[in-house]
Amino acid sequence: MSRRMALTAEQLPPDGGRAILRVDGRCLLLFHVDGAYHAIEDGCPHQGSSLAGGKLEGMYVRCPAHGLRFHLGTGCLANVPEMKVAVYPITVEADGVYLTLPGEESAA
Ligand code: FES
Repeated sequence: MSRRMALTAEQLPPDGGRAILRVDGRCLLLFHVDGAYHAIEDGCPHQGSSLAGGKLEGMYVRCPAHGLRFHLGTGCLANVPEMKVAVYPITVEADGVYLTLPGEESAA
């Protein structure tokens, strides 16, 4: 079952900015682009580099290691939807901003 957590004002990056968020053993990156928040897993699926220092190009972040670009909304590599980083929904409500984390996978 997924879990929703409230983000504090200190955790939220300013418009055009980014922040690192460590939660439940994961390292997430929060981006604030054109008034909207986006959260992705920090870890390039190519060779695992951190995307935290990657150049932001509109809705894409470019991996600083080899230059692959990932869409902040879908997590997909540009033009290659099979290769992606995890994305985490963020909702802005009247009483705050919330991040939704996936639940544990159940063993089959
Ligand atoms: S590790 Fe990210 S593009 Fe190679």
